Amino acid sequence: MIRPSRQTRRAFLGSVTGAAAIAAGAHVRAMSRSEGEPGFQARKGANDRIQIALIGAGGMGVEDTKTALTIDGVKLVAACDLYDGRLESARKLWGSEIFTSRDYREVLARKDVDAVVIGTPDHWHQRISVDAMDAGKAAYCEKPMVQQLGEGDAVIAAQRRNKAVFEVGSQGMSSLGNEKARELLASGAIGVLNYAEGFWARNSPVGAWQYAVPLDASEQTVDFDRFLGSAPKRPFDPIRFFRWRNYRDYGTGVSGDLFVHLFSSLHFITNSLGPTAIIASGGLRYWKAGRDAPDVMRGMFEYPETPEHPPFNLSLRVNFVDGTSGSTYLRLVGSEGAMDVTWDDVTLRQNRKWDPTRAVQKEFRHDPEPAGRKEMLASTTVFKVEQGYKGAHFDHLGNFFSAIRGGKPVVEDAVFGYRAAAPALACNQSYYEKHAVRWDPVNMKVPNG
Ligand SMILES: NC(=O)c1ccc[n+]([C@@H]2O[C@H](COP(=O)([O-])OP(=O)(O)OC[C@H]3O[C@@H](n4cnc5c(N)ncnc54)[C@H](O)[C@@H]3O)[C@@H](O)[C@H]2O)c1
Repeated sequence: MIRPSRQTRRAFLGSVTGAAAIAAGAHVRAMSRSEGEPGFQARKGANDRIQIALIGAGGMGVEDTKTALTIDGVKLVAACDLYDGRLESARKLWGSEIFTSRDYREVLARKDVDAVVIGTPDHWHQRISVDAMDAGKAAYCEKPMVQQLGEGDAVIAAQRRNKAVFEVGSQGMSSLGNEKARELLASGAIGVLNYAEGFWARNSPVGAWQYAVPLDASEQTVDFDRFLGSAPKRPFDPIRFFRWRNYRDYGTGVSGDLFVHLFSSLHFITNSLGPTAIIASGGLRYWKAGRDAPDVMRGMFEYPETPEHPPFNLSLRVNFVDGTSGSTYLRLVGSEGAMDVTWDDVTLRQNRKWDPTRAVQKEFRHDPEPAGRKEMLASTTVFKVEQGYKGAHFDHLGNFFSAIRGGKPVVEDAVFGYRAAAPALACNQSYYEKHAVRWDPVNMKVPNG
């Protein structure tokens, strides 16, 4: 991690040390965020406290709330969940005086709640988001914004109808890494974009969503009927409740869980509205005990030419039975280079401009090697966040609370969130129905659908 001696604004500083990078012959540059920059939460007065409630107090909802509470002036006043153990944990974390309920509508009815964080399973996102905005609340809803293609319209309409502050929680797109990648692409650092790819490799039970089921899970401690919501009715099943991601009725599979992050980042970096054709294949290779969501999936996507970007192809893959593990990345490839993008760093590999016909000429005409051709050698530059950077999650939630206070609009509103979710949801449709899916990213509709 590189720390420049003095910085007054966001900067990407000159070559410095870094053992791994030096070994690889790379330049290393630092990335930081400073006061006044987007995503930086400025200090505020006592009169603009924002009181929040958490709906869905599981893993991510709690993380969102913990991060939100590091932002000045944000206070938690209520929490809602369907498992008593989670409500108990919320009271332990944030004080017994907070209001708790199994019914999110009781939370939305409270006058002391300005904003809600929605961390429920995916099949509840649309309903609770719309109800929250109609109740006059700002809402931060976890990704993917909705569970099914077609559900996005209602969320977009609710945001417009209520002029609500609504943000989807793909936090990576607020990161310094994504912002740097966007800047590099616009500056022509990799030439003309023609391809992108993303991989996730996992090889553990938790990575494959085999979460622990609490010993006290019962029909008394879990409100299973309420959890089902609009999903098909069935008897109490703690596995379905605590491992909801494994089932189509409640989750969105690997594409809704993971591809969606990359769509948010990719669309942010390229200014894209989305692909027009989606095809996915995959299978259930290992985690077969009951789940109906595949544990291996590959998606392929066609991005058409737009005023914002050239045509390019995208390939995404998730493998939950991946013996290589650890090969997770997003890569953008252009005519003069490529970059690997994470939320905290960007590795840029560049080749100098070259004439692709030259090799042929050399072979047939026996041209002498022109002077300066050695310049074609690749160079690598690594951009890394500075020590002390609070991270994408802080920036994304900071963006949400700034918008509530009348700052800049959120970076991931309902329109952006739906355009990021839709190709991920189309992957599920393609996988289960075994055909390619067409998508109109401008009008956010399945053509003729
Ligand atoms: N942004 C990220 O990096 C990220 C990471 C993980 C999860 N997520 C998203 O967060 C959401 C939650 O995922 P998780 O891993 O925290 O799941 P989780 O199972 O740990 O938590 C979900 C909680 O919601 C509760 N719940 C279910 N239905 C409810 C309802 N109708 N009203 C109130 N509470 C309800 C459950 O009891 C549970 O405690 C998902 O949409 C997921 O995609 C985002």
